[in-house]
Amino acid sequence: MDFPLTLIIGGAGFIGSSFARLIQNPVIYDALTYAGRKENLTDLRHELIVGDVASPILHEVIKSKRPEIVINFAAETHVDRSINRPENFISTNVYGVLNVLEASRKYDFKYIHISTDEVYGEECADEESPLKPSSPYAASKAAGDLFVKSYVRTYGINAVIIRPSNNYGPRQYPEKFIPKAIIRTLLDMEVPVYGSGNQERDWIYVEDTARMIAELALTGKGGDVYNLPGENRTTNLKILDEISSILGRKIKIKFVKDRPGHDRKYCMTTKLKFNKTPLSEGLKKTVEWYIRNRWWWEPLISDEFFIKDEPWT
Ligand SMILES: NC(=O)c1ccc[n+]([C@@H]2O[C@H](COP(=O)([O-])OP(=O)(O)OC[C@H]3O[C@@H](n4cnc5c(N)ncnc54)[C@H](O)[C@@H]3O)[C@@H](O)[C@H]2O)c1
Repeated sequence: MDFPLTLIIGGAGFIGSSFARLIQNPVIYDALTYAGRKENLTDLRHELIVGDVASPILHEVIKSKRPEIVINFAAETHVDRSINRPENFISTNVYGVLNVLEASRKYDFKYIHISTDEVYGEECADEESPLKPSSPYAASKAAGDLFVKSYVRTYGINAVIIRPSNNYGPRQYPEKFIPKAIIRTLLDMEVPVYGSGNQERDWIYVEDTARMIAELALTGKGGDVYNLPGENRTTNLKILDEISSILGRKIKIKFVKDRPGHDRKYCMTTKLKFNKTPLSEGLKKTVEWYIRNRWWWEPLISDEFFIKDEPWT
């Protein structure tokens, strides 16, 4: 895709690397934490600059590259980890955002801020709804969003906030529900299900998110918020049913204690109209990708957030 010069912060992660695939020779700035992996970029011509979103190095990079657009995917993203160590989420999700915002006061670029449906909590929400985060992760994301809004109002910066719902697809780190269920079943392990398994999530295929972020980077109005719901709302147990029928294998479910503060559901409406991949089609592509790409996930299965059944403990 022809795109103005864009700096992709957090482009070595799950959604960022899917977005990076849409543009030619992307420039990626990423700290390469456990979730950011060069393996996510192997089939892609790109420039990778290793750095922290909260570091002054980011300003140097923006000064020398002069991007027209800066998209910030960088975040600590796993709710269970935020329950164990909330303080780790402040540096990237709050100070990191503040650092990008400070850069936007000095240099002229459009800032695309990637947020999440979790900032709304479990109430059904449109773009104007109040933020009611439940987990430390969601609270840190909501703090970032509020700083973006304050910089738009106070300093007049050009920023757009995008709030996708739960993403799934290739290259998602195995700590998350769908890849964990697929990989554990491929390894003949039990799949832990928190509480009753009846929590509802609204699933969006990662390539749909990436395409919409690209569109909004070009057309989104400064100061606006855009929700990206997948409009595929279903329970965790039904997701396991679908994965089981795609794999042609029974999933060995193990019910475990519910995650503290667990939101029962997420549910957003949007002012945008866009096509979404049907859940069954997206899940089929996702399962096939994990079957074909064992090299990608095999080094990750010693991670305690993959192995432990109640990893927040
Ligand atoms: N995955 C989802 O379901 C989902 C849903 C809604 C919103 N989001 C948001 O989308 C964004 C991307 O999510 P993801 O699932 O791709 O995350 P991810 O955990 O797969 O990747 C995060 C990326 O950010 C990088 N990073 C982390 N800390 C950094 C730091 N201090 N400096 C620079 N880079 C750093 C990591 O190395 C990694 O490449 C996040 O802002 C997340 O909150 C994700």
